[in-house]
Amino acid sequence: MDIKEVLKLADDLFFAKTGNHLDNLQEAILRGTVRGQRYSQIADDFQCTEGHVRDVASKLWKILSDVVGEEVSKSNFRATLERWHFSIVSSNFAKDFAQINNINVCGDTLQSIEVPETRSHPKQTPNQTNPKPKVCQDLADAPAVLPFYGRTGELATLEKWIVQQRCRLVALLGISGIGKTALAVQLVDQIKDEFEFVVWKSLRFFPPLETIQTHLLQVLSNRQEIALPALPNARLSRLMEYLRKYRCLIIFDDAQAVFRSGELAGHYQTGCEDYSTLFRIAGELSHKSCLLLLSWEPPREIVAQQSENGPVRSFQLKGLDAAPARQLLRNQGLLEEEHWQQLIDRYRGNPLWLKLVAGMIQDLFAGSVAEFLKYDTLYLGEELKDSLAEQFNRLSDVEKQVMSALAQEAEPVSVSKLLEGVKVPPSEVFSAMQSLGRRSLIEKNQAVFTLQPVVRQYVRFRIL
Ligand SMILES: Nc1ncnc2c1ncn2[C@@H]1O[C@H](COP(=O)(O)OP(=O)(O)OP(=O)(O)O)[C@@H](O)[C@H]1O
Ligand SMILES: [Mg+2]
Repeated sequence: MDIKEVLKLADDLFFAKTGNHLDNLQEAILRGTVRGQRYSQIADDFQCTEGHVRDVASKLWKILSDVVGEEVSKSNFRATLERWHFSIVSSNFAKDFAQINNINVCGDTLQSIEVPETRSHPKQTPNQTNPKPKVCQDLADAPAVLPFYGRTGELATLEKWIVQQRCRLVALLGISGIGKTALAVQLVDQIKDEFEFVVWKSLRFFPPLETIQTHLLQVLSNRQEIALPALPNARLSRLMEYLRKYRCLIIFDDAQAVFRSGELAGHYQTGCEDYSTLFRIAGELSHKSCLLLLSWEPPREIVAQQSENGPVRSFQLKGLDAAPARQLLRNQGLLEEEHWQQLIDRYRGNPLWLKLVAGMIQDLFAGSVAEFLKYDTLYLGEELKDSLAEQFNRLSDVEKQVMSALAQEAEPVSVSKLLEGVKVPPSEVFSAMQSLGRRSLIEKNQAVFTLQPVVRQYVRFRIL
């Protein structure tokens, strides 16, 4: 992008956030930044004090950071805007879209909104078969996952839910490292041609919903949506209109980041409460798109709305089956296949845990699983402990008490047995157990509960 294009993009983004264009000093700061000028030089040129330039610049960086969803500063301004621009127009967006004129300012009611025609659909004669429109992807946030093993059943179920049965809101849930992101990357690759837009956004740094909506509206309108509605409900209506008009697949990875620590699963963080409305509306209202959430815990809206055959569903991901888990261990260079099943069982087929333990067996036992198993330990290691700590630290006090009580039981226990060891009213224990189940942290078999071996080991380590 040349300097004019960078400044134009910055002005568009600034306008989207504030409703105003850049003033002369703000533009001079950006121009000077791109040219490598210091604040003192910009101040001299503009005949004002350096302090004033710094103040204005700092507010400007904050506004631009909010819009693009990452830190923008003097040192990374041009690179960040170019990267952002690239993520929007990548995957041939420009080629796929019809050129249209500038966009209206949006009304505040849902019905009155006409979204611009952003895609060019080939003209057809009556006998022509309908060629599929080319998919527009914004997958800059999606990691590459290779190699990938197994999961054929999971892929088939999710494809059925999303493509054939047209679910509107799907949560793919599971403990950290179980393979949600890897599975979703594979799924997207498999079903992307069914959609007109595919957008992948990570919520890892819990961006305000406004940032996400701005990004989505920009992508879905091919950057024609510059003047976004100021009111949150109007922005949401605008987004819903796109979800109705186009078949979009929107993946929100790391969605647990918008939920609060220290409380039962699914409560929103301060500043992220708006996501609740988005998830509720996306599940309730009719549209032809799908929101796929990858998360350690489900939002409450999904818990409330989900049903077996309805448009809102959740899928709790378990470990890899034996065959793909073996492929993974083989790829990690382990020896003595006859012992692998023990590892797979102990680590419950969790691909991240298997990779971590395989790495240690390589480092210390030259890949010999038999040597490692001689010690009969359930190796956790620092990375695995860190990963579990992140999840354990998010629990409410009662959830932690329930986990501690379960960690001390050698066998699965019933609720009544569990209540004997926890000094909390039964109703609070029931809620905590439900919440732990939603977080995939307790295992249930009929009416008895337990912790999987790695989690038990970790909780014991924490409470000793
Ligand atoms: N089916 C698979 N085949 C091979 N490797 C896999 C598979 N699933 C996951 N992995 C690997 O296991 C690791 C963890 O997977 P992934 O990041 O998808 O987990 P996650 O559930 O998204 O974790 P988190 O909740 O922490 O984001 C990654 O290194 C990934 O490449
Ligand atoms: Mg992930």
